[in-house]
Amino acid sequence: MKPLLKVEDISSFIGPFHILQGVSLEVYPGEVVVILGRNGAGKTTTLRSIIGQVPPARGQITLDGVSLLNMPTHMAVRAGIGYVPEDYGVFDLLTVEENLKLAMRQSDKATLTRRDEVLDIFPDLGIAYKRLAMTLSGGQRQMLSISRALVNDNKIILIDEPSKGLAPIIVERIQNVLMTLKKKTTIVLVEQNFALACAVGDRYYIINEGRTVLSGTVDDLIDDTALQQTHLGLVLT
Ligand SMILES: Nc1ncnc2c1ncn2[C@@H]1O[C@H](COP(=O)(O)OP(=O)(O)O)[C@@H](O)[C@H]1O
Ligand SMILES: [Mg+2]
Repeated sequence: MKPLLKVEDISSFIGPFHILQGVSLEVYPGEVVVILGRNGAGKTTTLRSIIGQVPPARGQITLDGVSLLNMPTHMAVRAGIGYVPEDYGVFDLLTVEENLKLAMRQSDKATLTRRDEVLDIFPDLGIAYKRLAMTLSGGQRQMLSISRALVNDNKIILIDEPSKGLAPIIVERIQNVLMTLKKKTTIVLVEQNFALACAVGDRYYIINEGRTVLSGTVDDLIDDTALQQTHLGLVLT
């Protein structure tokens, strides 16, 4: 089987700063790949490099064999990448309905069906459909942000720390949603919540100081407490 997404030894700069200095990863169809690493390791920059917000200076990125390099973000998105950014990326002064409408790449029957499915997954959004996004709670904003990726027919969805800053009960809901999505689509998940990452992920990559340093199956990682401590700084009780 060929990888759906392949990132090969990319180097990315933000201004004068050489942030990524050799990130590689492969994602196969149907997998959930989790990207782990300490704060500031380069996880968000990796996702932003994939969708062209931080275009890599070197290396290669392909989706389904097509190079994403030098492709502007709107084209990468059109090629079939859903992106759920760290800070939600919802429009505060638009309603839930308008936020979803704006995210839709098409308004065909299939897209409208996906929108209805999204409202089944997140009943909160149906209830708040005509309200401005700024009135939503943090958890609801995260749900809206994920929904914006789900209304389109994507080949892969990149999700950046969906549990960040949310109450445990909401994190549980997000985890359940990710478990549902896992059955339908291919996902790259950046997640600092180790329990959530392990529950949802199939394979992992650890990024440290802008480089991929380790990868393997999540099952092996769960058993390897020494590795968790060395690379993720997890203190085990
Ligand atoms: N806009 C920026 N300007 C300068 N440095 C940045 C910017 N964004 C990120 N960085 C730096 O790049 C490194 C990686 O950041 P990031 O990819 O956000 O890490 P992570 O998501 O793993 O926490 C950090 O050292 C961070 O300070
Ligand atoms: Mg980040």
